[in-house]
Amino acid sequence: MVSRKKGLLVSIEGIDGSGKSTLAASLVATLSSAGLPVLLTKEPGATQLGTILRALVQKKEMPICSKAEYLLFAADRAQHFEQIIIPALEQGKIIISDRMADSSLVYQGYGRGLDKTMITQVNSWTMNGITPDITIYVKVSAQTAFKRIIQRNAEFTSFEKEQAAFIERLIIGFDELFAARTNTVWCDGEQTPEHISDYAERSIISSWNAL
Ligand code: ADP
Ligand code: TYD
Repeated sequence: MVSRKKGLLVSIEGIDGSGKSTLAASLVATLSSAGLPVLLTKEPGATQLGTILRALVQKKEMPICSKAEYLLFAADRAQHFEQIIIPALEQGKIIISDRMADSSLVYQGYGRGLDKTMITQVNSWTMNGITPDITIYVKVSAQTAFKRIIQRNAEFTSFEKEQAAFIERLIIGFDELFAARTNTVWCDGEQTPEHISDYAERSIISSWNAL
């Protein structure tokens, strides 16, 4: 297995049902079969603490206000960076994370209306100032995502039960956020899983080779 001095941090972002988890699994399979040192992780829920926090925000069995909701994701992120991301970067891994800080900016900022400057500051603090080298944005329409969530046939999370207007705010949020960045790979999530994975993989390999 090839290992480098510095790792590569890749986040995958998009609305629920856009195909992020499918893409993450496919990328990990192809990159690892090419002999690259890849690690699959996610937010929320990659650590033991995160598993508990994830269940709290997904099931919402008690009232959780927007600020508390954000801080639960921030706690998950702090633990994720301390326990998984920073050590893996030090080991020179390619880290593929199914969601990261931009999900908070979009869901809690654009979606819930919390202060985006505050979210940016706290995100940066939880991540020790580290940011993804590349973000893969899987863009789909709300209709496509909704159809896929139904087809997936799993119990709806609190976020999947949100009104259409909430999902539209998320799409506007992701589009606006990533239009202002230079390290985002926009993927047309309406394409086949193979097409999306090939496209994203090429960007990751060229960033890895450029390290
Ligand atoms: P997310 O992680 O973004 O919520 P998933 O990867 O779980 O989304 O995908 C949601 C559903 O859509 C799954 O049933 C998956 O098999 C299917 N799916 C994923 N990507 C595609 C695609 N490009 N085209 C059609 N169906 C897809
Ligand atoms: P998950 O099952 O991981 O969703 P998916 O597989 O669709 O990515 O649940 C995570 C949910 O939490 C998802 O609806 C997005 C939401 N979320 C936030 O609201 N803020 C955040 O910072 C993160 C990381 C996720």
